[in-house]
Amino acid sequence: MKKLIKNGTVVTASETYEADLLIEDGKIAAIGSNLSANGAETVDAKGCYVFPGGIDPHTHLEMPFGGTVSKDDFESGTIAAAYGGTTTVIDFCLTKKGEPMQSSIDEWHAKSKDKAVIDYGFHLMIGEINDDVLQEIPRVISDEGITSFKVFMAYKNVFQADDETLFRTLVTAKELGGLVMVHAENGDVIDYLTKQAIEKGQTDPIYHALTRPPEVEGEATGRAAQLTGLADSQLYVVHVSCSDAVEKIAEARRKGFDVWGETCPQYLVLDQTALEKPNFEGAKYVWSPPLREKHHQDVLWNALKNGDLQTLGSDQCSFDFKGQKELGRGDFTKIPNGGPIIEDRVSILYSEGVTKGRISLNQFVDITSTRIAKLFGLYPQKGTVAIGADADLVLFDPTVERTISADTHHMAVDYNAFEGMKVTGEAVSVLSRGEFVIRDKQFVGSPGTGKYVKRAKYGQTLTANADEVISK
Ligand code: URP
Ligand code: ZN
Ligand code: ZN
Repeated sequence: MKKLIKNGTVVTASETYEADLLIEDGKIAAIGSNLSANGAETVDAKGCYVFPGGIDPHTHLEMPFGGTVSKDDFESGTIAAAYGGTTTVIDFCLTKKGEPMQSSIDEWHAKSKDKAVIDYGFHLMIGEINDDVLQEIPRVISDEGITSFKVFMAYKNVFQADDETLFRTLVTAKELGGLVMVHAENGDVIDYLTKQAIEKGQTDPIYHALTRPPEVEGEATGRAAQLTGLADSQLYVVHVSCSDAVEKIAEARRKGFDVWGETCPQYLVLDQTALEKPNFEGAKYVWSPPLREKHHQDVLWNALKNGDLQTLGSDQCSFDFKGQKELGRGDFTKIPNGGPIIEDRVSILYSEGVTKGRISLNQFVDITSTRIAKLFGLYPQKGTVAIGADADLVLFDPTVERTISADTHHMAVDYNAFEGMKVTGEAVSVLSRGEFVIRDKQFVGSPGTGKYVKRAKYGQTLTANADEVISK
């Protein structure tokens, strides 16, 4: 059914203007003043911004990790994402050494099928490079539309890849049109520091942060950036948490290297003292890289403002406190790493960023949606408000004041990392390809309506492949 969104203020990465939008067949069909259309349902967006739907480039839904599985799956995770104003997620598909990558991709399709309420895609982990892997990558790009590849420089003996793997992935990505993503921490040094801490009986959650200092993130970020320059390739550094890493990204960009950086809300508003909470509550804030001393926050905000960092991911990887985080009582190395962030990503950036004058409204749209669409082969089908684009839209009331809490959130876990935080602004209604998923703050979608999206190669647009949004 056609829809007319009337009286809203449309915001893109470059413009803010009053306009009506006509939605037809899931796409934006017209943008203008006083639009009318026979048979269209009228939606009043008075007082609301109309943003392109948020794109979360970094989620781990139902992911096996640390002897357990992250609690939010493709159903609860995408419902929570939609409540927060996100209409597309790109999840990390983990591979296993010695096994065909396609079997991991099939596993990820199986767990997302019939569950997602918004559109989604996958990044693929590269844990090793050998002839089998090199043979599979071109088909993964062409058939699966997976065009971004993740290399872990940390989690020794679990996910960590060596520098040869990273370098050869960069070379291959350059040849084939992929974007290499890195978890940049020096896993070998962390392994040594961790063993030393445990030997000394330093087992509380705070030692998770103290054994992964900013220097190990800065070192790995600089190494990955240098290797990218050498390979003349392209790199996206996920979850940047500290000034040490920001400096390395900024330096690489000054040299003309094609290096991009993502931060996450948790690093912008929380700090290392959270890991010192009594009664093991610090475990709720154990993720990697860890929360940092407060002075790093200003550096991250400035980097978002001046463009040294370009995107915001959630790094959603949620575990209950009871029964999951508790696995690490008496040994911080056994606390599953990750937090519930997917729902509050957009809200926190708006409230702390736009309303506090740290970034502009248009930068906010760029950081939460447009730039991510461009980097990950979704633009201009997603990530903007334009004729022909998917009608993935958020009607956002910038005046609402509310308090974040596990009592009211929609994630499946028993705590919220931002509990008690007051924020201004809220997604009131959210549409995915023209259909309401959230309407007047109520979930009205249904599992399985979210579609798997095949993405374009790095640097290419998705327009030519507009019909290739497929259901898997
Ligand atoms: O602690 C985190 N970030 N867990 C998820 C996996 C990762 O490193 O991104
Ligand atoms: Zn990571
Ligand atoms: Zn992650």
